[in-house]
Amino acid sequence: MAKLNVNGKVIEVEVEDDTPLLWVIREQIGLTGTKYACGIAQCGSCTVHIDGQAVRSCVYPVGGVTAGQKITTIEGLSQKGDHPVQQAWAELDTPQCGYCQPGMIMASAALLDKKPNPSDEDINTEITNICRCGTFQRVREGIHLAVEIKHKSTAKA
Ligand code: FES
Ligand code: FES
Repeated sequence: MAKLNVNGKVIEVEVEDDTPLLWVIREQIGLTGTKYACGIAQCGSCTVHIDGQAVRSCVYPVGGVTAGQKITTIEGLSQKGDHPVQQAWAELDTPQCGYCQPGMIMASAALLDKKPNPSDEDINTEITNICRCGTFQRVREGIHLAVEIKHKSTAKA
């Protein structure tokens, strides 16, 4: 039995400790925005946040989540799908097929929390997610645009 805080809700699930968090999120909890692709921590499609840090949930055992840690999936990143990264993605039409994009968005949002104005080099180093459609250039542009969107909304507030 695991007690998890997912997107602000406390949920109890009946699973073995070594079950990958991705399966718990998708199968037990029913949040299917987080995607399975490689299953070996290489592509980042399964990226979620644990206490704001990007983790690859396909290899993260659910037993590794400690009490009180907050898990955020793409469904919980923002209330209305309006996180600056999501706004930038919509403006630039960043996704192609879209499959890798929840992971890209989660990784990008975590990067901006850590580095509010990342350089291209920072992005290349930190965003190691793989996109089979080759959207890397638009992902980089999207991250820079998200920085501008964030600044504008902070200036307005
Ligand atoms: S599915 Fe987890 S890193 Fe690829
Ligand atoms: S948009 Fe298709 S795999 Fe990335």
